[in-house]
Amino acid sequence: MQILSTSLAMLQKNDIVKHAKLTYQKVRLAILNRIGEPSKSLQKDSGLYWNEGDKHGIDLKDYSHWRDHGPFKDGRWEALGRLQYQMFEKLVTFAAVERPIGSAIEWGCGGGMNAVHYVGEVNRFYGIDISRANLEECDRQMRSRGFVGFRPILIEPEKPEDALEKVKEKCRFFLCTFVYECLPGVEYANRVTKIAHDLLVPGGLAMIQIRYYNGLSQTRPKRANYFKNATRFTSYPIDEFWILSERIGFEPLYVVLVPPPEHYPLTGDTYAYFFMRKPEGSRNAVHPVAINRNI
Ligand SMILES: C[S@@+](CC[C@H](N)C(=O)[O-])C[C@H]1O[C@@H](n2cnc3c(N)ncnc32)[C@H](O)[C@@H]1O
Repeated sequence: MQILSTSLAMLQKNDIVKHAKLTYQKVRLAILNRIGEPSKSLQKDSGLYWNEGDKHGIDLKDYSHWRDHGPFKDGRWEALGRLQYQMFEKLVTFAAVERPIGSAIEWGCGGGMNAVHYVGEVNRFYGIDISRANLEECDRQMRSRGFVGFRPILIEPEKPEDALEKVKEKCRFFLCTFVYECLPGVEYANRVTKIAHDLLVPGGLAMIQIRYYNGLSQTRPKRANYFKNATRFTSYPIDEFWILSERIGFEPLYVVLVPPPEHYPLTGDTYAYFFMRKPEGSRNAVHPVAINRNI
């Protein structure tokens, strides 16, 4: 009898401890979601996620858009990359820029879904990424099409500005798709936008896709728990990204909202593609200029 009541007491004690721990985690997360996790810790987690996510059950090849992984089978990888390449072609026509474009940079090139379409367009294609495996896969895909001008640029997630030193020339086109929503916070994404501007020649073009906030809570930018929110972390109201880009020195030309669902079977998210130009004679802004409303 004595043993039974001791065991029951211990069980109850264990339950209370477990419950207290869970409550603590929930309260901690709620507070962090409100006030925001420190930026450095989010950046560190993003590095872990994109390099070692596999150890935590994340299919990194799928999430990094590798050919024939996850949903990117049966020609879908090729098709989505081509669709986005056609957006580039429209931009070049709209902006009346000469082709071939010659040099391009892709921020977060993943498995090369976009990059492979540029092999006839550029001599050098810089892929900037925080994952070595993705850079190697992108290079492999480019080489399989006979292209040897791929330049992998590995950066640490905490130091995106290192790209300014590592890319040895100013380029004529900056590309970034399916990455902004994964960046660890709006301030960080602002920094990348400033870097994009600084990496371009005057007259250079940019195509940046963001996830946009449309007033519904599920599209609101996140502030904590990168591992849980990685692929939907950062978003902007459309006007905010437009104004931010202008303040940085871009001339936004037009925006395309997520195409009709039948063209985009792979996602159900709110995406906005911004098409921009770095004006001729534009100088690089000295300081990043953030606006970020508290939404
Ligand atoms: C969803 S994949 C997109 C790949 C490619 N852009 C596409 O559209 O197929 C996200 C990519 O962004 C990279 N990435 C994540 N955080 C990054 C950062 N801070 N700077 C550069 N690349 C980053 C990941 O390693 C991964 O290659």
